[in-house]
Amino acid sequence: MRLLPPIPDRLKPAPKRPGTAAPQKPLELVQEAGISAVDWIDERTSLSGGLRWLLFRKVPKGTNWFYTLGSATLFAFLSQAVTGVFLAMYYRPDVAGGAYESVRYITNYAFLGEFVRGMHKWGSSVMVILVFLHMARTFFFGAYKYPRELNWVIGVTLLILTMVMSFTGYLLPFDQRAYWATIVGVNINGTGPLIGPYLSDFLRAGPEFGATTLSRFYAIHMLLVPGLIAALVGAHLYLVAKLGTTAPPWLKAEHKEPELEAKAKA
Ligand code: HEM
Repeated sequence: MRLLPPIPDRLKPAPKRPGTAAPQKPLELVQEAGISAVDWIDERTSLSGGLRWLLFRKVPKGTNWFYTLGSATLFAFLSQAVTGVFLAMYYRPDVAGGAYESVRYITNYAFLGEFVRGMHKWGSSVMVILVFLHMARTFFFGAYKYPRELNWVIGVTLLILTMVMSFTGYLLPFDQRAYWATIVGVNINGTGPLIGPYLSDFLRAGPEFGATTLSRFYAIHMLLVPGLIAALVGAHLYLVAKLGTTAPPWLKAEHKEPELEAKAKA
């Protein structure tokens, strides 16, 4: 390749003075409106640096479809959050028939109510299945090992919280099945060692199963646990971006460290 001598600065075309460039045509303005808006925000927040750090990461060779299970779980959670907001617009945590009636209203009369309730109900099972599959992937690929132990621990907490969502949501329709199944569940909790009895007292919100139980389950289901899940998913993803993902276990290292090789042989 022929190397060209550098052009002296004074021969380079000078940038146009501000305000002297030809004004943009209306079509060009419309085409660049999105870019201009994003630039406007970025100039004031510098968010693009963080986004680039989060999204443009190197991924190990051999990354495959199993690595999408975490994002699929996240999508299921977001879908639950969105459908849950619409259900909360109609739901009433009232044990004297109001809860059951509000769920009946959602199913039979509210616009797209049956669809939204169906998505939330089936979505809960989808999320539980996905979270287990994602955990199995990270387990079988050895992703729980150093330096990702903390992310595994956060994951276990997320798994427990997902179960708490299922358990507390099951009571909300307040029909016969929800009522008796939850009594059984709370009693099973009570048989746990040490904290079991305290836990069942806390869930029942008093000595009897009643109005305060339903309110407590509702508050845990739509405020406490979703907030905790959102915060922990943030920490989980921060660690994924910081540490990178694990290479599949069947891949051999391409560049061997001579020092480690010698140590292994000794
Ligand atoms: C709400 C539940 C969860 C969400 C939304 C979630 C999301 C994610 C996402 C998006 C990733 C990166 C992509 C991937 O590897 O799939 C990831 C990685 C990871 N997750 Fe989860 N996760 C959840 C629960 C869990 C659970 C239950 C565990 C284990 C007990 C776990 C352990 C891990 C580990 C160790 C990694 C790092 C994977 C690697 O380095 O290859 N996560 N998670």
